[in-house]
Amino acid sequence: MCGIIGYIGSKNVVSVLLDGLKKLEYRGYDSAGIAVVNGNRIQVRRVKGKISSLEKSLQEKPIRGSYGVGHTRWATHGRPSEDNAHPHRDCTGTLVVVHNGIIENYLSLKEKLNKEGHRFRTETDTEVIAHLIEKYYNSSLEKAVQKAIKRLEGAFAIAVLSTKESGKIVAAKVGPPAVVGLGKKEFFISSDINPLLSHTQKVVFLEDKEIVVIKGDGAKFFDFEGKSLEKKADHISWSPLMVEKRGFKHFMLKEIFEQPQVVRDTLNGRMSLDSGKVLLDEIGISPQILKNIKKVIIIACGTSYHAGLVGKYLIESLVQIPVDVEFASEYRYRDFILDKEDLVIVISQSGETADSLAALRAVKKKKPSSLAICNVVNSSISREAEGVLYTHAGPEIGVAATKTFSAQMAALALFSLYLAQIKRRINRKESLSYLQDLQRVPHKMEKILNQTDFLQKLSLQFSSFSHFLYLGRWINFPIALEGALKLKEISYIHAEGYPGGEMKHGPIALIDEKMPTLAIVPKDRVYEKMLSNLSEIKTRIGYILAVAFENDKEIHKKVDIVIPIPSVNPLFTPFLTTLPLQLFAYYIASIRGADVDQPRNLAKSVTVE
Ligand code: G6P
Repeated sequence: MCGIIGYIGSKNVVSVLLDGLKKLEYRGYDSAGIAVVNGNRIQVRRVKGKISSLEKSLQEKPIRGSYGVGHTRWATHGRPSEDNAHPHRDCTGTLVVVHNGIIENYLSLKEKLNKEGHRFRTETDTEVIAHLIEKYYNSSLEKAVQKAIKRLEGAFAIAVLSTKESGKIVAAKVGPPAVVGLGKKEFFISSDINPLLSHTQKVVFLEDKEIVVIKGDGAKFFDFEGKSLEKKADHISWSPLMVEKRGFKHFMLKEIFEQPQVVRDTLNGRMSLDSGKVLLDEIGISPQILKNIKKVIIIACGTSYHAGLVGKYLIESLVQIPVDVEFASEYRYRDFILDKEDLVIVISQSGETADSLAALRAVKKKKPSSLAICNVVNSSISREAEGVLYTHAGPEIGVAATKTFSAQMAALALFSLYLAQIKRRINRKESLSYLQDLQRVPHKMEKILNQTDFLQKLSLQFSSFSHFLYLGRWINFPIALEGALKLKEISYIHAEGYPGGEMKHGPIALIDEKMPTLAIVPKDRVYEKMLSNLSEIKTRIGYILAVAFENDKEIHKKVDIVIPIPSVNPLFTPFLTTLPLQLFAYYIASIRGADVDQPRNLAKSVTVE
């Protein structure tokens, strides 16, 4: 939800900011802007629309400066427009702010500031920050920021500059992420590490209630009381190439194709095929504590929630303890009951999703063990949970999650086997057999990805339909949900994911020749049941496309089109059944000319409630 960037250094500041904003664009893309300082003047350029519109405007009418800040917006307060685009100015126009987050008390602050004579030009909550800093500004920008942010309620990561103190950017955060890049005589502030990778891999993650003052010769850190802080720099192992498209038409397609490797990377070094053991001591929760876990509660949003549902089936099958899976946005407001012997797992690619983070903070008060499954190292959720199991998917740029979903399922498969081992629910032989099956999964994924022509043709055939039903049962019910979500997100086609057995309790009324069904029918414990459900559709003239094992002969008699996948241990079918559904959504969206990587109204990292 909005991306902020700031740069001080000797490179062309407009190019650095633009390039940075392109890498942050997945966070929001309804308007964008930059402000650069040229001598004692601030030059601001803002546009409605994407970064490409900002780039075009800057090419047509360039601006120059020696340092500056930039912003890409996902509107919360104030519709997307040039006026509401950041950076926002104070009354004097000598100070600008970019902001990610929401200021909840902005209306009352605005009223007070208005009475004091401040003049507002926008509908945004952010503008109050600029006027508040103006109000408190004497001679030190950081002191004014310090005073202003104490008046703010809500969530914010901000970067501020003023021509009154040349060569200085002040940034602060409570809630949304902010990371400081430490280059060679150049310094950055950014919402995430992606814009920094081509400049430096040395970074400092800002914690809540910390301020950084960035100048051309370094970065200094303070708490909100102004006390100086010593911060340790981290080295980021992601490479700049990881955030490029590398010949693919879209990031989403590239990320779909990266999945076999991502699963390999997530499994790598965490299992031994000699001993049959899963090696997860790294997670920071002792085996002794895990041994006594009686129940697991998985909390997440969006695609991560669907991975959590897959995790439920895995843990219940392998560990034989109860698992609940909850939407973070719901759970945090429930009168939830937790026990010290429960384990809460929060799954979040970004590690910054506001509802997931808030839910984690709420559950921690009841003192269960907590484990984060995150992709972004050092993200808020990974820092605040007691233990963390990282997925090794690398940066995901496409707004619709694909490779991180597979990586989350790999992490959950490993964790389930680890817990089963600790609780002695599986013996060495069984464990070894599961691990061998798991290890073969990436190769089988590759086989599917090597034969995409058929899926492309199929997508063409179905691209003009307006409604789809996705059906799955047992561990593939979550994949039906995820397949439908992918289609909705990127192609704007209505799709419903449903458990096969529930279909007759409602959705069957929708079935006709205009609503095809995508059914997930691997040979597993519910195979026969799914076939009966599909017969119910066929008798109502519904068209069926089925994802099924390539060696399944029977299925051809029951459905119209079969999308074959290699056979695999039923517990690991989601790794394979997911791929055709992602590709189907991708090709349909692409054929319909939709903006695959940046679907309308969505943002990748939802750091507001
Ligand atoms: C947004 C994204 C989804 C993602 C969800 C949860 O809605 O568009 O792709 O699944 O947030 O994000 P998280 O980072 O917590 O996994």
